[in-house]
Amino acid sequence: MRCMRLNSNMSTGWETMPDFKKELKFAKEAAVKAGAIIRKGMNKRRKVNFKGRIDLVTEFDLKSEKFITGEIAKVFPQHSILAEEGGETQRGLSHIWIIDPLDGTTNFAHDYPAFCVSIGLAVDGKNVLGAVYDPVHDELFYAAQGRGAFCNKRRIHVSSQNKLNRSLLATGFPYDIAETKEDNLDNFARMYKVAQGIRRGGSAALDMCYLACGRFEGFWELKLHPWDTAAGLVIVREAGGRVTGIDGKKYSVFDQDLLASNGKIHRQMQKVLLRK
Ligand code: IPD
Ligand code: CA
Ligand code: CA
Repeated sequence: MRCMRLNSNMSTGWETMPDFKKELKFAKEAAVKAGAIIRKGMNKRRKVNFKGRIDLVTEFDLKSEKFITGEIAKVFPQHSILAEEGGETQRGLSHIWIIDPLDGTTNFAHDYPAFCVSIGLAVDGKNVLGAVYDPVHDELFYAAQGRGAFCNKRRIHVSSQNKLNRSLLATGFPYDIAETKEDNLDNFARMYKVAQGIRRGGSAALDMCYLACGRFEGFWELKLHPWDTAAGLVIVREAGGRVTGIDGKKYSVFDQDLLASNGKIHRQMQKVLLRK
């Protein structure tokens, strides 16, 4: 890995930027502890309820969320929470923790080992940090704005591949796939013919982390939720990747459609998705 040398009078921009050290440490620890709760539920009989035809929630989604939100209330009592299973807790408006207590619930419910805990923080509308923990592989991905992205203390970067036909991509499909026209199947069919391969991992947060560390070159999905992407967004950006809407416009976690890449193949993916 090549690192630029800084001479002493060169500004990094960090001096003026809050470092969110306390918040990041909290997010990392909470993600790992919640991951341990989920790990206990692997390969066991679990209570599973249906939120929709194929949209599941297990007792471990709920246990993980209860743990994380309880810790936030103790350590940051002024902060608000947006969590998948419990909805919103509004306290202060400036700090909002955005939580997916178990991303990849369908995988978890089938003992397919690809799921994680995702915790992001937005301050004054800006996503400033994220921690994603995969309890199966014991991988903790994290990043804070301007501080780089890491996996288990190792600095990570997106890949440098610039050809779509040499790129491994990831995508996902919405729970209302049987009812909606925006089922992503047309995109998938077109993209598969021009990429090296596409994986449907079943955890959008992990897809983004795998992009950040160079395992994937690109990821897109329609109909995502803020908790799927709030942490991954910061991790991808800090790893040198690019995140936009599929139209190339600025992405907010409240937008549903997302295109993320190593930056090098962004336009090529966009052309395929926009049928250009
Ligand atoms: C889902 C996963 C999946 C993605 C769906 C998400 P959940 O989250 O991230 O990969 O395709 O769009 O809703 O329900 O497992 O938390
Ligand atoms: Ca999710
Ligand atoms: Ca979830």
